[in-house]
Amino acid sequence: SPDKAWKGRFTVPTDAFVEAFTASVGFDHRLYRHDIRGSVAHARMLAAVGIIEEREAALIAEGLAAIEKEIDEGRFPWSVGREDVHMNIEAALIERIGEVGKKLHTARSRNDQVATAVRLYLRDGIDSLIGQLQRLGGVFLMLAEREAETIMPGFTHLQVAQPVTLGHHILAWFEMILRDSERLIDARGRVNVMPLGAGALAGTSFPIDRQMTAQALGFARPAENSLDAVSDRDFVIEFTAAAALIMIHLSRIAEELVLWSTPQFGFIELGDGFCTGSSIMPQKKNPDVPELLRGKSGRVIGHLTALLVLMKGQPLAYNKDNQEDKEPLFDTLDTVRDCLRALTELLPATTFHRERMRREALRGYPTATDLADYLVRRGLPFRDAHEAAGRAVRLAIDQGVDLADLPLAALKTCSPLIEDDIFPVLTLEGSLAARDHWGGTAPRQVLEAAARGRQRLADL
Ligand code: ARG
Repeated sequence: SPDKAWKGRFTVPTDAFVEAFTASVGFDHRLYRHDIRGSVAHARMLAAVGIIEEREAALIAEGLAAIEKEIDEGRFPWSVGREDVHMNIEAALIERIGEVGKKLHTARSRNDQVATAVRLYLRDGIDSLIGQLQRLGGVFLMLAEREAETIMPGFTHLQVAQPVTLGHHILAWFEMILRDSERLIDARGRVNVMPLGAGALAGTSFPIDRQMTAQALGFARPAENSLDAVSDRDFVIEFTAAAALIMIHLSRIAEELVLWSTPQFGFIELGDGFCTGSSIMPQKKNPDVPELLRGKSGRVIGHLTALLVLMKGQPLAYNKDNQEDKEPLFDTLDTVRDCLRALTELLPATTFHRERMRREALRGYPTATDLADYLVRRGLPFRDAHEAAGRAVRLAIDQGVDLADLPLAALKTCSPLIEDDIFPVLTLEGSLAARDHWGGTAPRQVLEAAARGRQRLADL
């Protein structure tokens, strides 16, 4: 195993198991681009303030660029003995450019270095997830407009409640992921603060220019407090919490797709390309993709818990515990990325069975509320109207017909206020068209909400 950068004060070499146990290069190697960006900005700043020479900063930047290319091409010899991504790259730099490479770590510690690399990495990850959420939002809006007039049963307690349009239902999904995007944007603001300059914990004795480094790396500002800068992982937790909510939303949507694709609901048919068959039952077409969207929410919730517990007992400032932040963070980023992609691609390949949805909306007397509302407009207090409409539902159940199929005479036994203008009120179309206000399910409102949605996506 290679010489340790910190070998000076040690007399006995690291135990082989401990070396493997403490190493993180197996998973943190994916920070390499962001680690190198941080190092180049740091070296240029060191030169600008005269701590190293411009020529030396240029050599360091060139050496790091060559190393980045080597890693990109899969030719870099990662070494577990060199512990983590940071030490691997620094050691490779020294091998490549010699003595000058040893100056890079002036006025820096791995503690501010790693916090900076993780923030840069997560910032990119968040930006890419926001882009994915916007694409999914676009698919929702496209579907909502297409299905603005499609009638389906709306549910409470998973029992048929009132008719809604499919477009309106899909716009509810849209609201969830728009909030998710806003949460990510909000969290991004607290990610985008630069730890470099905090050193190990107490700052540095060199005359560094933190504003310059922050600007070079696109950070809004340097962190205010050196102890906090190296020990804060709130930003990882906040992101993971926002990610867990994204997964909860995807899971709820997925659960609806699983239900809707059963023959019992029969609302949708998922594309063959997004399903799998059974190894024993020849007839099966299973909704694996939505099931996995639902199932994978568990791991992200687990990562959030892991990160919260990771931080709870840590005294200031940096502790090696923090190395454990990476696997939950990386897996969260990967999981949310793949799940958003899966839903974005699955929905346009889904067939919606409009006739079947309409037929199911007719079952369960979903326009009973409309009958009560009608009686209120005829002057009956709502509670009395509710009771009269309930009697009408009872009659319809007994006769095995829909409310709109009861003869006027039968309806009049429930309330003498009912006239023959009741019939359009009791249809699904009448019920939907009546809910014609901001946020309502009337087709006209769905189209307007979708148009506003486009603007809100663009304004994010
Ligand atoms: N791999 C370490 C981490 O992820 C880098 C920082 C190590 N610092 C230290 N003082 N051992 O946290």
